Amino acid sequence: MKILKETENKITEMLAEMTVEEKIGQMQQVSLESFRPEVFERFRKLGGGSFLHVLSDEADKIRAEAAETRMKIPPIFGIDAIHGHSLLNGAVIFPSQLAVACSWNPELIKEMGKVTAREVNADGLDWVFSPVLCIGRDTRWGRVDETFGEDSYLVGELGAAIVEGYEEDGLVAACVKHYLGYGEATGGRDSYDTEASMRKIREVFLPPFKRAVEAGASTVMTAYGSISGTPLTVHRKLLREVLKEELGFEGFVVTDWYNVGSLRTKQMAVESYGDGVRLAIEAGNDMSMNSFQFYDSAIRQVKEGKIPMEYIDDAVRRILRVKFALGLFDENKKRLPRSVIGSAEHIAVNHKLTRESLVLLENNGILPLKETPKKIAVIGPNADNIRAQYGDWTFFSHPNASPEDCKPKSDYYTILRGIKTVFADSEVVYAKGCNIMGETEKSMLTEAEALAESADIVIAVIGDCLAQNGEGKDRANLELSGAQNELMRRLKKTGKPVITVLVNGKPLCIGEAAKNSDAVIEMFNGGDLGGLCAAELIAGRFNPSGKLPISFPRASAQIPCYYNQYNGWHGGKYMDVAEGSLYDFGYGLSFTNYEYSDITLSSDTARSGDMLTVSVDVTNTGDMDGYETVQMYYNDRFSSVLTPTRQLCGFRKVFIRAGETVRVELPLAVDAFSLVNIDEKTVLEAGIFDIMVGGHLGALKTAELSVV
Ligand code: NOJ
Repeated sequence: MKILKETENKITEMLAEMTVEEKIGQMQQVSLESFRPEVFERFRKLGGGSFLHVLSDEADKIRAEAAETRMKIPPIFGIDAIHGHSLLNGAVIFPSQLAVACSWNPELIKEMGKVTAREVNADGLDWVFSPVLCIGRDTRWGRVDETFGEDSYLVGELGAAIVEGYEEDGLVAACVKHYLGYGEATGGRDSYDTEASMRKIREVFLPPFKRAVEAGASTVMTAYGSISGTPLTVHRKLLREVLKEELGFEGFVVTDWYNVGSLRTKQMAVESYGDGVRLAIEAGNDMSMNSFQFYDSAIRQVKEGKIPMEYIDDAVRRILRVKFALGLFDENKKRLPRSVIGSAEHIAVNHKLTRESLVLLENNGILPLKETPKKIAVIGPNADNIRAQYGDWTFFSHPNASPEDCKPKSDYYTILRGIKTVFADSEVVYAKGCNIMGETEKSMLTEAEALAESADIVIAVIGDCLAQNGEGKDRANLELSGAQNELMRRLKKTGKPVITVLVNGKPLCIGEAAKNSDAVIEMFNGGDLGGLCAAELIAGRFNPSGKLPISFPRASAQIPCYYNQYNGWHGGKYMDVAEGSLYDFGYGLSFTNYEYSDITLSSDTARSGDMLTVSVDVTNTGDMDGYETVQMYYNDRFSSVLTPTRQLCGFRKVFIRAGETVRVELPLAVDAFSLVNIDEKTVLEAGIFDIMVGGHLGALKTAELSVV
């Protein structure tokens, strides 16, 4: 957010002119689904500050009505454009945030942000409730699909990239969420309390928000839950002191859905709605999403002198600042034509990103296929299921669930369609095989087995479904559900090669399914083109380059299994499960091999403020060109508080031709090695640091740095 003197002066004039009602109106966000129609109408007429989940022509109508109000302040229209403008049927639907994180490609993720911004702007809207900067370390949580994975540094880098993409052209505002610690609620249960010290907050949860604020994020959304018992909605320290004062955030804070009302109805933190309203404003929330008690109560309390006007003026100033920055006051504000929605140019970005989002987890050499099979059996509950492939936050699920027969208007590819398209000369047969939820009739399994027997090769498509992902859909059991393991055993028994494609919201315990497969491709929620890209990968039309942004558990109770844990006293191993995760953070195969050698540092000693360059040779030793993600980690050998055994501190994706060696340089700010000490201060402690570079955790070359 840039502060422009001219705009600030204008806002000062407006604040002097506005009534209390008009000011509080700016702080109210209204949605059609939750407000009674007459209340919604009231806010339309008086000029509500913001509306959400309104699409297309409806937004134009409300905007026109606001232009008739005394102050003529335009509303800001918010939308859950989470992976593309995905609530609008016909817009480009990208893979989920977790899926695109597998690309480790900030440039492409920024492009995704730009495409989404263009489509949202063309649809008449201004503000995307994205990205999610929660850390996906407890994969029981139902919203892991919405995260960029488990690592704070990676989340920050990819978050900053998409924020830049959203905001760079001035078309929409981003909203980074959910502030703070939402991803790690107790037991992975959505919106419960997160037990976290300020030290932990500063070490793990805050850095991505800091990075996004630096990247220019205009708005921040407060989480539902609480941190160590204090509801985020009233967390004055985290909102006012840390976010606004310490990080210097100049945009505005919006609560999540009905946060203010929930202080009384769910968290039992206040006896009256009025107290909730007052505490939420005092803590630093500038706009209230959907708490219908907010408007009247805030007006009354301001008039009674219970809520200081300076808080209100500051909140309204922040909201107007964002509206000015977006050009909403400009009568001739340019909107892109609706024809950009779903354009060929946008689809091309999606295609590139979807290819890079696929992770090859297993391959016994079967991929890429050496020859075109005569007959392919595509088997599995997610083989022809676009709802499961899209995942959460599309028109299928929000704002209201669409009917079962609702069809996407975009040119989408399930895996079945992808295989039929890419293997146009093969005979392709299909059976669902089993259900993901509920019982499976034996006949489904036997039909699938018979089809598999009759084919040369089997593509098995398993995973999870929409009912298993999203708000309030946390899972205690992360095994493949329904009869999916039984189906995989039967497919294996046919003796036919089995290539498994996983379509799921988050890491599941897929050990047994992987053993029954010759190759495994992780797609997560692949959006419009997931099925096409998976088929292209199988055919060898491109070399897979995705790397996991999140670790896979071997068993449900092994959670959390994220990579950057502290040293365990007894090694951190369970007696009944093999050590470590099934697939590590940073892991992913390619059709070629990369060898790392000759790691050097631009200096062996350094001090706070220094910038170093870490260089390494990477050789593509195979016979296919490819993209390799060079990952850099560090370890602080001895530190005053525990630090992770390995922590990501840089990465770069490079294209390397078969047989070629590329010298890759990674910049490194020595202050990245800082820790949060016992006094909650971020400090760089002197000592020896190991710097490790490689393609994944298992194969790293190390150099030593002495920090003085
Ligand atoms: C609830 C969700 O927690 C948040 O992510 C979303 O943006 C808002 N509601 C608006 O739908």
